[in-house]
Amino acid sequence: MILVTAATGTIGRPLVARLSARGVPVRALTRTPATASFPDGVQVCGTAEPDLHQVDALVLNLAGVGGDPSALLDAARAAGVRRIVTVSSLVVTEDGEETGEGSTAALHRELEAAVEAAAPEWTHLRPGGFAANALQWVPQLAAGDVVRGPHALARTSPVHEADLAAVAVRALLGDELLGRTPRLTGPQVLTTAEQVAILGRVLGRPLRHEEISPEAALRGMLAANPWIPEQALASMLRYLGSTVGGDVPATDEVRRILGRPARTFAEWAADHADAFRPAGA
Ligand SMILES: NC(=O)c1ccc[n+]([C@@H]2O[C@H](COP(=O)([O-])OP(=O)(O)OC[C@H]3O[C@@H](n4cnc5c(N)ncnc54)[C@H](OP(=O)(O)O)[C@@H]3O)[C@@H](O)[C@H]2O)c1
Repeated sequence: MILVTAATGTIGRPLVARLSARGVPVRALTRTPATASFPDGVQVCGTAEPDLHQVDALVLNLAGVGGDPSALLDAARAAGVRRIVTVSSLVVTEDGEETGEGSTAALHRELEAAVEAAAPEWTHLRPGGFAANALQWVPQLAAGDVVRGPHALARTSPVHEADLAAVAVRALLGDELLGRTPRLTGPQVLTTAEQVAILGRVLGRPLRHEEISPEAALRGMLAANPWIPEQALASMLRYLGSTVGGDVPATDEVRRILGRPARTFAEWAADHADAFRPAGA
């Protein structure tokens, strides 16, 4: 049995679907077990009382444990869970001033260390920025053609959640990723403004990015991610700012692990175009 935390989330949904389609027993953890819907055969369990009975492996996502993995890791250790696949972050590999105490990098480093102390087998997935972060633009784009956000020229290599879910399946079901820390990105380095333009081309709309101050952006990020400490979000924003004109990796790990190229941001936009279209259009 595989337990998936944040099962209704960005990676959780496609991961549960993939495992379930392969006939792997899955238990999905959510705060709303009574109403969340999953494929037939998936067991559903509330975050308040995670059921680790017969769980061999779990996928640990900080969002799905409200930012604090300690209770679930204690329970996993007590239940003898053998394998943990961590949703960590590419920022743990960075060094520099935005990686100290309280930073997003430190948060994920602590998570990785806690996982290693809790289970004999582990893989830490270290994704870069999710392509799906663009879904935060949906409300703005319902109102017009402008995306307002911080750092128009911040550079990331947006990664498609379907690729992350496919790599997570490998880490759960095979042994080749044990003890490894793959750095998972999309195939191209893009500025935020370039992502907006690509999305516009896919949607057939003249979208543009308008920069707002990091302070204004921080307020929005805090409202959207109440479980992430303000200090960590602020460090993430400063890190994004530091990528402007900087050297940002687009790794080859997705292709190496899956044997095919990572999906592009344009593919992501095409896969999610309906989310940006008014209902009924
Ligand atoms: N976003 C990025 O660019 C990025 C990049 C690198 C790494 N990461 C890592 O990926 C993680 C998840 O990213 P994400 O923002 O896309 O989130 P996500 O995986 O989509 O997870 C959101 C899910 O977490 C659950 N959740 C939310 N608040 C919760 C709470 N207080 N207690 C318990 N469950 C809660 C919700 O499920 P229910 O409503 O069903 O309970 C929600 O569906 C981050 O924490 C980070 O560690 C993200």
